Amino acid sequence: MAQGRIVGGVIAPHPPHLVYADNPPQNEPRSEGGWEMLRWGYERLRRDLAAIEHDVLIVLSPHWQTYVGWHVLAGPHFSGKSVDPIFPHLFRYTYDLEVDTALAEAIESEARGAGLVTERMTNPDFRVDYGTIVSCHLVDPAWSRPIVSISSCRATAYYTVEVMQEQARILGEATRRAVEASGKRAVLLASNSLSHRHFTDEGELPEDMSREHITNHGQHLWDVKIVEMLRAGRTQEVVDLMPEFTRQAIAETDAGSLTWMLSALGCPDAPGELYAYGTVIGTGNAVMGWLREEGWPA
Ligand SMILES: [Fe+2]
Repeated sequence: MAQGRIVGGVIAPHPPHLVYADNPPQNEPRSEGGWEMLRWGYERLRRDLAAIEHDVLIVLSPHWQTYVGWHVLAGPHFSGKSVDPIFPHLFRYTYDLEVDTALAEAIESEARGAGLVTERMTNPDFRVDYGTIVSCHLVDPAWSRPIVSISSCRATAYYTVEVMQEQARILGEATRRAVEASGKRAVLLASNSLSHRHFTDEGELPEDMSREHITNHGQHLWDVKIVEMLRAGRTQEVVDLMPEFTRQAIAETDAGSLTWMLSALGCPDAPGELYAYGTVIGTGNAVMGWLREEGWPA
């Protein structure tokens, strides 16, 4: 069996607004569009990803919140309707997805072996979280490949960002070992926004773009700083800065997704490709990718 490899890492933010604005058949509510810059960015990402052979998407979602350890979706098939609890008027999505159970089990075992608390989710009636669904949909709307979904253990909330960071780094390295042993070619999705303070009210038309802007100037400065560092290939520095960024910008990196993904890639010196940056209800969102046919790390 050929050695598996991680051939891509993507920052794949999951505002349900982006699916709502796309009007796919899986989502009930209809829209007049909106958030085009981010959606066109995802479109360019999909074009680039199509040129990279890969077998599976592995996503770490902030909205599958497990307070005791990291859980891995490990049943073969999940279907149902996902309704966003904050935006039920925007996101009522019928999903039907396949899981790469062998890889899911291997990631869970590697992570457990590395000292993390882990669990496999095999309940066929489990409702998959909307962060997993939105990021996977925007990267592959046809759901043409199986996925592996990993929860966020919320160590930031229970302990500190630093504890979360350390666990996410160990999980990233465990994920890489599991992928390499699997023979599969995997793309990793860090499902998160950057700065994450959002509006508390909404206009009559949610997709009215005349209302859309970053919540505050401080968030803009932080987002641009992080994006610039990532575009310059300073990924290790971003991981080092993550606790401060997460606290100051109330960033969704508190979930560990970005640290996990960059650690799995070996914190490359290579620049990430920025496909888009845009705000959604005041939060900062970057769609970025590190894609390489020969895999990461080199
Ligand atoms: Fe979120």
